[in-house]
Amino acid sequence: MPGRLAITSPQLLDLHPAAADLRRLVLAGMERQPRQLPAWLLYDDQGSQLFDAICEQPEYGLTRTETALLQQRAPELAQALGPGVLVEFGAGSARKVSPLLEALQPAAYVALDISAGHLLQACRALQQRHPTTPVLGISCDYSQLEQLPAHPWLERRRLGFYPGSSIGNFTPEEAVSLLRQFLRLLGPDSRLLIGLDQPKAVERLEAAYNDQAGYSAAFALNLLNRLNRDLEGDFHPEAFRYRAWWQAEHSRIAMALISREAQTVTLAGRRWAFAAGEPLITEYSVKYTPSAFAQLAQRAGWRPLQRWSDAQGDLSLHLLEPADRAPAVDLEPDSGQPHSER
Ligand SMILES: C[S@@+](CC[C@H](N)C(=O)[O-])C[C@H]1O[C@@H](n2cnc3c(N)ncnc32)[C@H](O)[C@@H]1O
Repeated sequence: MPGRLAITSPQLLDLHPAAADLRRLVLAGMERQPRQLPAWLLYDDQGSQLFDAICEQPEYGLTRTETALLQQRAPELAQALGPGVLVEFGAGSARKVSPLLEALQPAAYVALDISAGHLLQACRALQQRHPTTPVLGISCDYSQLEQLPAHPWLERRRLGFYPGSSIGNFTPEEAVSLLRQFLRLLGPDSRLLIGLDQPKAVERLEAAYNDQAGYSAAFALNLLNRLNRDLEGDFHPEAFRYRAWWQAEHSRIAMALISREAQTVTLAGRRWAFAAGEPLITEYSVKYTPSAFAQLAQRAGWRPLQRWSDAQGDLSLHLLEPADRAPAVDLEPDSGQPHSER
């Protein structure tokens, strides 16, 4: 943008996410039946790098499709979002946001992510690519959104961006709470753009989460290294195998580490028995149809404004606005056709 000075370093804020709660959350997850740990635990430095590798696998089309859609539609998206500060939730490597930054020229860009070291590198790289956009990285857990320290950039009109179908890692009830938290942070004059993978043929979905090169397996197994390191565990990763499968009754992919044999492990000062074949759920990925997601968003106080999808109808970008600032609209049923709808 003419008149903007080049910035060489991003601002960074580390809120030391979740460390205090790690033990409590892991113990609670190990008590569940089936055992299930929070998906964010997958994202230490190594996990974030493995996730980037997953995104490049031929079976995992989500990243390529969403990136292409953002590139194609950037001018329309920028117009529909309007002016403000762009806040990305779960930014990861922050690679998808570039077309939006170019088209929108936001007052500033704020990237939030729980994976502190990875976020730091991502913000530095992004600042180099977009030297005229002020960049702020905040390492935090979504549970800390209501305690973010005051920052002048966050005083302006806020636009949310949540790509990657990451909301699918939460149960529908948790997703409603998260969308409410986003609404409280973004405020009544905001917009929220969310990227969502859609239900599709089971073979394609299962292949996407079971890539041949083994990155999805390595990503899940890395969780055991993290537990060994952070909670004095003695897991042997080779004693587990990775599996991802479609659960039609929940419209989701389940990802788990399956114990290869009966075994006992130590974790957080306790002993835990695993039966042969017992799963430890590492994450879910819920797939919403556009109308199911619109209903979910409405329960959280958002109103669907517009939706863009790719030609195959694999993925949608949903634009939402706070419900209490606009008149009601009728929701159209899913057409399954590629389109942009208002
Ligand atoms: C599925 S990845 C998506 C990354 C990127 N947005 C994309 O579309 O490729 C989810 C990202 O959200 C972050 N994340 C997961 N749970 C989080 C939480 N509770 N609070 C903050 N960030 C979280 C992870 O570190 C990771 O970078």
